[in-house]
Amino acid sequence: MADSNAFGIAGLLGFPVAHSRSPVIHNHWLAEHRIAGRYVLFPVPPEKLEDAVRGLSALGMRGCNVTTPHKQAVFPLLDRVDDLARLIGAVNTVVVEKDGTLTGFNNDGNGFIQSLRDASPSWRPDSGPILVLGAGGASRAVVASLAAQGAKEIRLANRSRDKAEEIAAAVGPVVKVLPWEQREDALDGVALLANATSLGMAGKPPLDIALDRLPPRALVGDLIYIPPETPLLAAARARGNVTVNGLGLLLNQARPAFNAWFGVMPEITPALRQAIAATF
Ligand code: ATR
Repeated sequence: MADSNAFGIAGLLGFPVAHSRSPVIHNHWLAEHRIAGRYVLFPVPPEKLEDAVRGLSALGMRGCNVTTPHKQAVFPLLDRVDDLARLIGAVNTVVVEKDGTLTGFNNDGNGFIQSLRDASPSWRPDSGPILVLGAGGASRAVVASLAAQGAKEIRLANRSRDKAEEIAAAVGPVVKVLPWEQREDALDGVALLANATSLGMAGKPPLDIALDRLPPRALVGDLIYIPPETPLLAAARARGNVTVNGLGLLLNQARPAFNAWFGVMPEITPALRQAIAATF
């Protein structure tokens, strides 16, 4: 990290980036901790990613977040990438080290896990079998992070089975791939159901799954946060299950990034949640 007396800049590199809530989060924390700095959105088209990343250190930036379509493309531009980000195959946070070199991390999966623990402190990744639906980038982050945190059985079902098989091959035998058609049977005995498909997102059809077999004490997490309550979460809540939406991931992945850039581990306060809610 650069001189802590200097104005600290961090930001988001993506294309597009205008929809991002990250400035609200980081600028809230900067104000709360009276740190002189700013979190800025950088719309960077793919052909300019290399120049932009090379410029981070030259501009004295503390680091950046990376989003679509750069999460994989940024790998060869970094000096080191931590093991979990490598396993996930995507970087979401870059830290400019004191010597100007760049380190890549991926906090998305751990952020999701932390948000589940916030909602249900007795739950842990090894509490019981987990069913994850979907096998895109978000799913891979969640599955790899759950495995890294000790999950014993992760059932993975995706419409396109080959993508689920790829995740299982990368993460290991703790991941059991199931046919998409068996997603309801696979609810038997789970401690966690996580939706990492785009189904239930605003403008998309709902996830088609009957929850009859879902144990009453299972947690239900959805990586979606628009709308704040997907039809899946509404159905699970109506049955009495504890539910968590994707806002917790967004907030919790930001904490270690802020800490790495600005040297303070910030908290997710009601005021921050209100500031985010006001943007919807
Ligand atoms: P992200 O990077 O956010 O994970 P993604 O890579 O587009 O987004 O992944 C979307 C996920 O939603 C995928 O698992 C996708 O299934 P496929 O791999 O078969 O495409 C899933 N998904 C999207 N629409 C779906 C639908 N109508 N039925 C079932 N799954 C769907």
